[in-house]
Amino acid sequence: MLGQYEELDKKIEKYYAAQHEHPWRNQFHIEMPFGLVNDPNGLSYYNQKFHIFYQWNPFGCEHKNKHWALVTTTDFIHYSKPKIVLKPKDWFDKDGCYSGSGFVKDDAIKLVYTGNVKDKNNNRESYQCTATYHQDGSVTKDAILIKNQPEGYTAHFRDPFVFQINEMFYMILGVQTNNLQGRALLYQSKEFKDWTLVGELKTSMPDFGYMWECPNLVKVSEGKYAFIFSPQGLEAEEVKYQNIYQSGYVIGQLDVTVPALNHNEFKELDMGFDFYAPQVFTHDGRTLLIGWVGMPDKDHEYPTAKDGWLYALTMPRVLEYRDGVLYQRPVRELLGLRGEPALQVKPIVCDHYAVEVPNRSAEILLDLDLRQNDEVLITLACEQEYMTLHYDKVRQIVTIDRNHMKLGGKGVRKFTLDVQNELKLQLFIDRSVIEIYYQDGLEVTTLMYFPKTEVMNFAINSASAVRINELKLWQLSAIQYE
Ligand code: FRU
Repeated sequence: MLGQYEELDKKIEKYYAAQHEHPWRNQFHIEMPFGLVNDPNGLSYYNQKFHIFYQWNPFGCEHKNKHWALVTTTDFIHYSKPKIVLKPKDWFDKDGCYSGSGFVKDDAIKLVYTGNVKDKNNNRESYQCTATYHQDGSVTKDAILIKNQPEGYTAHFRDPFVFQINEMFYMILGVQTNNLQGRALLYQSKEFKDWTLVGELKTSMPDFGYMWECPNLVKVSEGKYAFIFSPQGLEAEEVKYQNIYQSGYVIGQLDVTVPALNHNEFKELDMGFDFYAPQVFTHDGRTLLIGWVGMPDKDHEYPTAKDGWLYALTMPRVLEYRDGVLYQRPVRELLGLRGEPALQVKPIVCDHYAVEVPNRSAEILLDLDLRQNDEVLITLACEQEYMTLHYDKVRQIVTIDRNHMKLGGKGVRKFTLDVQNELKLQLFIDRSVIEIYYQDGLEVTTLMYFPKTEVMNFAINSASAVRINELKLWQLSAIQYE
């Protein structure tokens, strides 16, 4: 009899050996052949390849059995097939090898993750563990680095992110105080072995949700660090914090000795419906980000579980620090998915313009001159179902409305966008994920949608004539698993 994991390997091989025509199977977003994928983990560049680890339950579409799996790539177009690297099989991680990070050291990747343990009354224990991903692709679990949380905090203590400053290694972790406030703790180690607590990261967010998940600390310019994290428990406002949980960042001067971050205001990384738990890493002068296309505690909003899979990862994005904020752009490698433009519209002034997207694996670049307009409405329709993107130039508010889709999550998301002259959009339309980049990446909205038909109609409508400076459409080819 084959063991559980040999069966799994066979199932993976079998999946990729066949063609899949499911209307919601994404073409250029990383997703799993089956099971539930969530947070990206351990992002690193090693052995001339980008290593993308992530949370995967390969045995079902529930949030349990969390493994770490891996795909590698050199170009973000050709990927290795998913492979399990950490199994929740030891006493210290038996209820999940939870999220964490990777650090290339001594010709290997040091993986650092949270071992989640629950007793029969559902009491939780959290162990920060390390494993080594070796040259030959084998993995050894090495040690428990931190047993349980320090005094003053609950067992919601997880998602270690390791970075280095000068010769010292640091680990930042998300945690909850005994009076239920989200915080981050900083540890340090000279040898990557004995980790000592430096302290709780001092910020000016004393009352900012009940838990901070998935912290990242990354240098974005000389003397400036971005602290990226996923706070839970923020109250929704008209143009902010509209999802059940948020992901965003603050930027400022980091003093690891206190430890303290003297920072600016929190900004969400993605104003769409389905984005959470992003992770970043730096390679060759680029800071790359990958997020989870999904949301905890909302599984019922996603209809693919009955087909055996759930969720995806975002397109890899490059972060650029400009004017106090992080701009996001898909990595330039993804230009390789484009062929010749399927459509290229000469500048035109009109109050209605519609384009057919024959195959929902497409990119649309749109530049509208809004100097003479107060508002514009963009409709993404699949026969009778549709979503709208409305821009109100007077109030400077974008509204995305998913209420007219039949299946999947519905609702409205609003955010502010300052447009003086041109509204610039770059839309990446995949089978069940859409990422929209606004004003060269100043804002992004990621969402999932589950239409019944292949063809999409993309329409621009305006009460008074609007000038379309640019409208281009490409069909995008699919990423490959080899
Ligand atoms: C965020 C998260 C992490 C945790 C992981 C478990 O989505 O809840 O805090 O480590 O998912 O899969």
